[in-house]
Amino acid sequence: MLSDANTAVTVDNVSKSYRLRAGRGQELKSTLLSLPAAIFRRKPPATKDFWALRDIAFTLRRGECLGITGPNGSGKSTLLRVIAGITLPTSGRIVANGRVSALLELGAGFHPQMSGRENALLNAVLLGLSLDEAREALPSIFKFAELGDFIEQPMRTYSSGMLVRLGFAVAVHVQPEILLVDEVLAVGDAEFQSKCFNHIRGLREDGVTIIMASHDLPSIQKYTDRAMLLEHGRIVLEGKPVQVLHEYLTRVFGKEEAAEVTQ
Ligand SMILES: Nc1ncnc2c1ncn2[C@@H]1O[C@H](COP(=O)(O)OP(=O)(O)OP(=O)(O)O)[C@@H](O)[C@H]1O
Ligand SMILES: [Mg+2]
Repeated sequence: MLSDANTAVTVDNVSKSYRLRAGRGQELKSTLLSLPAAIFRRKPPATKDFWALRDIAFTLRRGECLGITGPNGSGKSTLLRVIAGITLPTSGRIVANGRVSALLELGAGFHPQMSGRENALLNAVLLGLSLDEAREALPSIFKFAELGDFIEQPMRTYSSGMLVRLGFAVAVHVQPEILLVDEVLAVGDAEFQSKCFNHIRGLREDGVTIIMASHDLPSIQKYTDRAMLLEHGRIVLEGKPVQVLHEYLTRVFGKEEAAEVTQ
């Protein structure tokens, strides 16, 4: 796979399998009845492999913005988690050239008992800033998140939108070179979402490489340079956002509606 100084991310034939329980679930009564036998025989439960990602291969140039879409369960979040290094691939290889910052799950990495202020500082350090740099970044993070006095409250009291406000603000203020954003932005209100997308546009102009997974097709069309459609863990289409989205919508709704939406 071609890779040079301009390559930010290389995903080299990545597959990811999970071990799932095989067969149909049992009813509670039969599970309880079979428990003593299972304990004494110590027979491991039957399992099967499920491939969440299959032979995923692509490279991203520095400053490119890739949109990943596809049905629920098609592997979008798994792919982002593998690129972020949170999950290891079963086979294949990922090379990320630069500091990766990711906003993948709502509230992930935040401690519910700690305040927004404490969490922001901790996360900025965990994402690679020195303590001084993190302290310096705090005012911009708070300004972006617009949480007012709630920044001093424990994060267990935050609404979903408040969690994503702080999560996004931290993720984009740690000088990322590669930014990964999953669906979570959708829980922010319209004003905050638009602010995030404008910020993403600015980061892109500064040469940050961005991958976003989303069902928000207009945003993919508007903000990305390239799009990818996943189905059952495989890339089924890749190319210009408008073409990929048109093809995706055609598969789901038929030709006429797809033409209306992507006009
Ligand atoms: N830890 C896990 N253990 C077992 N299976 C998993 C695990 N994580 C993900 N999967 C499975 O992998 C598949 C892909 O999941 P993933 O979360 O990547 O989908 P997605 O495309 O992000 O879906 P959505 O649009 O709903 O966010 C699903 O079938 C899911 O059940
Ligand atoms: Mg997902």
